[in-house]
Amino acid sequence: MGTSEGIRTKENSAISISVTINGEYKQLVVDPTIRLVDILRDEWNLTGTKISCGIGRCGACSVMINGALVNSCLVMAYQVDEAIITTIEGLSTEEDIDPIQQAFLEEGGYQCGYCTPGMVMAVKALLQETSNPTETQIKTALSGNLCRCTGYGGIIRAVQRVVAQT
Ligand code: FES
Ligand code: FES
Repeated sequence: MGTSEGIRTKENSAISISVTINGEYKQLVVDPTIRLVDILRDEWNLTGTKISCGIGRCGACSVMINGALVNSCLVMAYQVDEAIITTIEGLSTEEDIDPIQQAFLEEGGYQCGYCTPGMVMAVKALLQETSNPTETQIKTALSGNLCRCTGYGGIIRAVQRVVAQT
């Protein structure tokens, strides 16, 4: 009884959400407490956004909502109705790679690459705020994004390369 009742309750509480994601309007009927990161990955196949800690500590799941950087593992479905969301897939086209991603490639700003989408989104958010950040500002902006491989040197250089090019 517990299980079927639980499922019924979930179904009864489903809500309809509408979002504009990477420029595309989408609607979904979903449990309001499902995490945004799970919707992105499981419903819309936007698997560039990663899950690691699941508790807001690592930044692997970073996306932008209405222009602000957020950890999508901490955002519930009901909170994104009518939101404008940008994920890593929204930065580049088939023809053009985002300059931040290009700089990560050129400076060796990644090894396994698991943290990279979140890092790139955090850099995007930083450069929206300031076009010429100092090294301290870069480190502060990336302090919520953990990388277990690179030692951060290549990542910092990648940001500095983008800044120098713009
Ligand atoms: S998976 Fe979201 S912050 Fe780590
Ligand atoms: S490149 Fe592996 S965690 Fe950052």
